[in-house]
Amino acid sequence: MTTTAADAFVFFGATGDLAHKKIFPALQAMVRRDGFDLPIVGVARSGWSLEKLRERVRDSLAQHGDGDTESAARVCGLLRYVDGDYNEAGTYERLKQALSDAQRPIHYLAIPPSMFAPVVHGLAGAGCAQGARVIVEKPFGRDLASAQALNRTLHEAFPEPAIFRIDHYLGKEAVLNLLYFRFANSFLEPLWNRDYVASVQITLAEEFGVEGRGAFYEEVGAIRDVVQNHLLQVLALLAMDAPIGPDAQSMNAARLALFRAIRPLDPTSVVRGQFTGYRSERGVAAHSQVETFAALRLQIDTWRWAGVPFYIRTGKCLPLTTSEVRVDLKPPPLALFDHIGPAQANYLRFRLSPEVVISTGARVKRPGAMQGESIELVARHQAQNGKLPYERLLGDAIHGDDTLFTRDDCVEAAWRIVDPVLRDGTPVHPYEPGTWGPAAARHVIADGHWHDPVMEESAPC
Ligand code: BG6
Repeated sequence: MTTTAADAFVFFGATGDLAHKKIFPALQAMVRRDGFDLPIVGVARSGWSLEKLRERVRDSLAQHGDGDTESAARVCGLLRYVDGDYNEAGTYERLKQALSDAQRPIHYLAIPPSMFAPVVHGLAGAGCAQGARVIVEKPFGRDLASAQALNRTLHEAFPEPAIFRIDHYLGKEAVLNLLYFRFANSFLEPLWNRDYVASVQITLAEEFGVEGRGAFYEEVGAIRDVVQNHLLQVLALLAMDAPIGPDAQSMNAARLALFRAIRPLDPTSVVRGQFTGYRSERGVAAHSQVETFAALRLQIDTWRWAGVPFYIRTGKCLPLTTSEVRVDLKPPPLALFDHIGPAQANYLRFRLSPEVVISTGARVKRPGAMQGESIELVARHQAQNGKLPYERLLGDAIHGDDTLFTRDDCVEAAWRIVDPVLRDGTPVHPYEPGTWGPAAARHVIADGHWHDPVMEESAPC
C-alpha cells in the first residue's frame, strides 16, 4: 500500500453519465466530509469550456448531490478542464500544463474500455504517468484475452500497486457488512459448508431498463455489466475462506483462491433473456442478441463447497430494484414434529440494497399442538449518512489504500469463469417487463425454485 496522498485528481470522462450521476456527488461528499481540496482536472472530447463543465457539475449536484450549496461551490472552484481527443498527443501536453506542479496525480478513467489503451499510452508519452496512480472503471475488458491485454498495457506505464481497478460494489456498506458479518462471528463458520448449506442464490434485480444507455449496453450485456464484476465479488465475499488479515494482499489472496476454484461456466448452466422493448431503445440493434437478463449456476470445486450450487440472477425491467443474497440451509435430518420441507428450512438472507438487512429464517412452535411455522429474525442496519460507494473508493485510491480494489490476477480469474459463455450464442429468451425473466430460467435451478425478493415491508414471516 502506497501511503502518500495524490495531489491532483484527473478525471477522464468528466462530461459523461457516470460522472453526472455518481462521481460529482461523491466528490461533493468528499469535500464536505473530508475537506477534499485537490484540483479536479476534467478531460473529455466534448468541445466544452470550463464554464460549460461547471454548469454540468451544478446540474449533477442539484439532481444527485446532498443539497449542500457550500460544498457544491467548492467542487466547482476546484475544477479545471482539458478538451481533446484521447488519441492525440496534444491533449496530454495540455493536461501536463493543467497539472502544473502536481507530482502525484491520480488519473481516473471513467471512459469506454476501448479508450483505456490510448489514454494510458498518451499519459505515459507526456510524462503524466510518472509518480501517478490510475483508477480504471469497469468493465475491465470484454473477455479474458482483452483483460489480459489491458493489464499488459497498464503495466507498461504503471506498476501494479499504482493501479486501482474499481468495482463500486466493493465500496457498498452492505457488501462490506457481508464480509464483516461472516468473519466477525463464530457461529457462522461451523455451518458455512457443504454439510449444512443446500444452495446459495444471489439476485440483482432492477425495475428500470437501460435508461438511455442502449449504445453502452449493446457492447456489454448483463453478464459483462454486472456478473463478471459486482456479483462475482459478492460471491467471493460469501464463499471465500477467511483471509489471514484485513489487508489488501490477504483479501486478494482469499478472493483469488475462490475464483480459481469456480468451474468455468458451460452453456447448459446459463439462461439469457431480453426484455420486450429493448430493441426499440436508442442505440440498440434491431435484431440485438444482447442479454438484459441472465440466470446462471456455478460450482465451486473446494472441500468446503463441492456439490453446493451457487445461483446468480440479474436483469433489467424486473418487478423491483433490489440486491439480495439467500443462503438456504438443509432441513433437519428427521421430521420429529411436523414435516419441514426444503422451502421451510432455515436460511440466511442478506439484503444488500436498497435496505441493509440480515435475517435468519427459522421455525417456531405455534401455540397449541407441536406444529410450527416459519418466521424471520431480522436485523436492520440502515446507515445514516453513510459514505457513498464512490466516495469511499475514490478516497481510498487517493490515499493509496488498495484493500477494496481488484488485483490483475483476480480480475483475470473472474473473466475466466464467464469467458466460455460470452460468445457461445446461447439463445436469448424474450420476457415481459415487470416479470422475473424468461420461464426458461427455472431450468438453471436443479430441484428447487428461485426466491424472488419482495419489498422489505411485506417480507414473508
Ligand atoms: C453498474 C451497471 O455497474 O451497476 C449498471 O453498469 C447497474 O447497469 C449498476 O445498474 C447497479 O449498481 P447499483 O449500485 O445501482 O446497484
